[in-house]
Amino acid sequence: MTLPRTGPTRATTSAAPAFPADFLWGAATAAYQIEGAVDVGGRTPSIWDTFSRTPGRTAGGDTGDRATEHYHRYRQDVRLMSELGLGAYRFSVSWPRVQPTGRGPAVERGLDFYRRLVDELLEHGIEPAVTLYHWDLPQDLEDLGGWPNRTTAERFADYAALVADALGDRVGLWTTLNEPWCSAFLGYGSGVHAPGRADWTAALRAAHHLNLGHGRAVEALRATLPRAARIAVSLNLHEVRPLTGSAADREAARRIDAVGNRVFTGPMLNGGYPVDLLVDTAHLVDWAELIHDGDLTAAARPIDLLGVNYYNPTVVSALPSGPTPSAATPSAAAASDAGHGDGAQSPFAGCADVLFHRAPGERTAMGWPIDPTGLTDLLLRLHREHPGLPLMVTENGAAFDDRVTPEGAVHDPQRVDYLRGHLDAVRRAIAAGADVRGYFLWSLMDNFEWAYGYGKRFGLYHVDYATQARTAKDSARWYAEVIRRNALPDPGA
Ligand code: FCB
Repeated sequence: MTLPRTGPTRATTSAAPAFPADFLWGAATAAYQIEGAVDVGGRTPSIWDTFSRTPGRTAGGDTGDRATEHYHRYRQDVRLMSELGLGAYRFSVSWPRVQPTGRGPAVERGLDFYRRLVDELLEHGIEPAVTLYHWDLPQDLEDLGGWPNRTTAERFADYAALVADALGDRVGLWTTLNEPWCSAFLGYGSGVHAPGRADWTAALRAAHHLNLGHGRAVEALRATLPRAARIAVSLNLHEVRPLTGSAADREAARRIDAVGNRVFTGPMLNGGYPVDLLVDTAHLVDWAELIHDGDLTAAARPIDLLGVNYYNPTVVSALPSGPTPSAATPSAAAASDAGHGDGAQSPFAGCADVLFHRAPGERTAMGWPIDPTGLTDLLLRLHREHPGLPLMVTENGAAFDDRVTPEGAVHDPQRVDYLRGHLDAVRRAIAAGADVRGYFLWSLMDNFEWAYGYGKRFGLYHVDYATQARTAKDSARWYAEVIRRNALPDPGA
């Protein structure tokens, strides 16, 4: 089934409020979630290969070994993007595919895959948006200590330079890290993500080295890329809301904001860690030893855009009896609304006495509450706190239990509702003054949803994993129409 072809000009006659004329419409994926071909061309295991092959780590023991075979089917997938009328496609480069040990020269065969993909995108008039790191650290670097080890930050900058050197002439939009909060706090804090360590000290050390690695990568990209290239980072900022207006609940929200948001926005955008975070976590890590001279200057290298990944707000309260730091969190499942997987230990370092609440109302198949107001509020907060820094929604979307009908259709009205609500939320933020330049829907197609395996479907295209057939969901047609109009179609249209 083909989607309506989009024309070169956008219809502006709709009564529905339009988006800015140059608004960038995109979709996003990540290498390990779609590529497969994990042992092709000299690629070595990443931490996600190791983790997913470890019994008990992913639902059903699913791995990214095959995923959606995008490595072999990328031409077909670019055609799907073209049918949607995408202006841009956000994908990540697999570090172990282009630099297998995380050190030394690049493997040309690995880079060639991305050169071919970029060429194909450009031939279809789709702007490539490269993410350098979407969680697939070469296992060799994890064996040397991973992100808690300072050297990983330097290795990341070297890798960034290799990729920029290979693709910089054709790629204008670059993202250093995807959701470093997940890398640090789910990978090393709760352990529900690779490499699966549960150690808050390691998580905080990882956070610092991700901040440093981001900054060093920005330096490397600036030194390699043409001046016009735009550099961003994608953060999954938590829209934290206190359950009540009580002082104790507001204090709980402040602490989650510190270790969930400002641990990255502080160094990357404000030049340093917020004092309250340093105080809150002083019993877990020796910050004075961790932060070397010059680190904060490096981490704060200016960027051109801030990528915002948003799925749902986070509602917190204090334990009624007050702080009991040694207690195991009673609310790890709700804490997982902020990430993936139900952790044995809260990922929020040092906040074991904070309770997480699932707001009543509709949820996605992930169990994540549906609340678009969080996106408007988050964008407006960022606009207020970082005036002059353009924003881009680099991920937003929803999983539902999609099925292909005997007629070969996939009816997903809940996803259309979710998208309509969240795009309207973006539009509201823009109307209130936020400088939001684009929106990347997660995800182009169903894929390997990390610890949840293949059971959670976020795609505009349904993937039959046995045959690898891609089927446009109703939401794909709807999104194509949004792009064509540069506006939200009337409900029912
Ligand atoms: C984000 C990840 C992305 C995908 C979505 C659902 O946190 O960046 O890879 O898993 O969630």
